[in-house]
Parts: sequence; structure tokens; C-alpha cells
Amino acid sequence: MNNQADSLRYIVQQMKNNIRSQINRTENVTSTRVITISSGKGGVGKSNISLNLALALTEFKQKVMLLDADLGLANIDIILGIRSTYNLADVIRGEKTITEVIIEGPKGLKIIPGGSGMQELANLKDWQLENFLTKLSSIEGETDYLIIDTGAGLSKTVTSFALAAEEIIIVTTSEPTAITDAYGFIKTLSQQHYEGRVYLLVNRVASFEDAGVVFNKLKIAINRFLKYKVEYLGFINEDPKVLQAIKEQQAFIVAYPQCKASQNIYQIAAKITNQEYQPKQEKTLKTFFKNVVKYFR
Ligand SMILES: Nc1ncnc2c1ncn2[C@@H]1O[C@H](COP(=O)(O)OP(=O)(O)O)[C@@H](O)[C@H]1O
Ligand SMILES: [Mg+2]
Repeated sequence: MNNQADSLRYIVQQMKNNIRSQINRTENVTSTRVITISSGKGGVGKSNISLNLALALTEFKQKVMLLDADLGLANIDIILGIRSTYNLADVIRGEKTITEVIIEGPKGLKIIPGGSGMQELANLKDWQLENFLTKLSSIEGETDYLIIDTGAGLSKTVTSFALAAEEIIIVTTSEPTAITDAYGFIKTLSQQHYEGRVYLLVNRVASFEDAGVVFNKLKIAINRFLKYKVEYLGFINEDPKVLQAIKEQQAFIVAYPQCKASQNIYQIAAKITNQEYQPKQEKTLKTFFKNVVKYFR
């Protein structure tokens, strides 16, 4: 082993072998669908959407885990008014296992609270990295969905999670700056040859038609300059109940299940669970986290 890259390759190869032997052993390995929620611009509603969508998915009889990977402003726990003693950073530092940091939210939702330790990923020694990956992938089979709330923009952490996941939901509002930044984000995905599915979700609109206008604007630019495929996932109405629920430190689909935004979320959750989903590769959480590290380094 003459350098770090070699040893990383060795570790990855070992993991692949492990995964293969595990798959051969149990034919029905439950795989986890990993969906990252990102945006170009901040403050467009990612955290609220991640949380409420994750909760809606639990009602479709799915086991769901929510990973708060917004490292600047990890705030899922704040939206819910729950305090977490430990977080992802403790796992990265090797001081806690994943199970030890998971907190339980409403409707049996499992939450991995965020922390500011992700930057440390770049500096981990190989054995620490392997340790970390093994811990993260221990949740394989325990959850049907892993929903990841990322920060805004194109920091290394955000792009690593986004590129590693097989599905990305890009959130925008109808504000021109949000649309431009969503385009910038999609451009990066296309430049990085991201091959997963990219969905667009338009938040804070007055109507279905307004959301259509935003999607079409983006689609025209994407078709013209990027030749890249982006699917329309849906929209969420501007709804005062969203802020009201935040003030009450509750998820809006729990506090106001009948409000417009809740109805929109259920529609999106139904679309996600119903759609035919064919993973492109041998899809395991190990592969996912391995990719996070690959893009991160
Ligand atoms: N559909 C909506 N209707 C009304 N207000 C919304 C809606 N979505 C988001 N907001 C407002 O936007 C703020 C930012 O949302 P948040 O989920 O924290 O965004 P992000 O995670 O992208 O930074 C919320 O505190 C809320 O006040
Ligand atoms: Mg957020």
C-alpha cells in the first residue's frame, strides 16, 4: 500500500466483496431508497419539506429515517422542539454509534441530528473512514427511506450527499434568484455527470399554474443549455400554517393535517411511493456512503 488512494481503493474493494457476499446470502435484502433534498438558494423550505415528507412517508407504511446534513444550520430538531445530546459529528469522531445518536420523532420517524463535523470527513484516516462507513451502513435494512436534508448551495458536503444519492429533489420558490440558483445547482449535477433522478419541487406558490410556470422556465433553460433530464415532482402552496406550526414547534402535517401544504405533501409522498423505481446499480447504503466519501475527498 503506497499511498492513501491505494488503501482507500483496497477498503472499498473489501466492502464490495462484503456486500456481494451478504447479497448472496440473503436474496431479499431490503434496500434503502436514498433521497437528498437540496436547493441552490437558502431558505426555500428544504428542512420543512424534508421533515414533513419524511413523516408523510411513514404514513404510507414505510420505515423512514431523516438525516439532517445541513451542517451550518442543522435545524430539524429545532423545528420539532426536541433537543439532541449527540449528533452525526459524534459518529464521525468515532465516539458514538448511529443507533446512539438517533432520536425518535413523531409517527415513529427516526432522526439523525446534524452536527458541524462533516468537514472532518476529509481528514479522517483510512481506518477511521472504514469505521465510519461501517457504522453508517449499519442502518441498512432498518429503513425503507433515508431522506437527507442538506444545506443550500454548492459546498462540498452538499454536493457529496447530492451526487451520492440516487434521487435528488431540488426545491425552489418562484423568486427569480431561487430559480437561477436551482438552475446553477442542476448545471453542476450535469457537469458532474450525475446519473440519478432529478426532481423539481416548487414551494410557496399560489397555485398549480404558478408552479407550472416556474418548472417550464427551468425546463426551457435546461433543455437548451444542458440537455439534461429533470422531472416535475409537484408544488407546495404558500400556506400560513407552515409558519404557525414552526412557532408551535411541530411539523405542519402533524399540527394541521388538513391544511393546503399538508395536502400537497401527501400528494408528493404518494407520487414518490407509487412510482416505479429501478436502481441503476447494486444499491446499498454502503454504496451510498462510500460515494459520499468519494465525492467529498
Ligand atoms: N409553503 C410555505 N408556506 C409558507 N411559508 C413557508 C413555506 N415553506 C417555507 N416557508 C417559510 O420559509 C422558512 C424557511 O424554511 P426552511 O424549511 O427552514 O428552509 P431551508 O431549509 O431551505 O433553509 C420557514 O421558516 C417558513 O417560514
Ligand atoms: Mg434548512
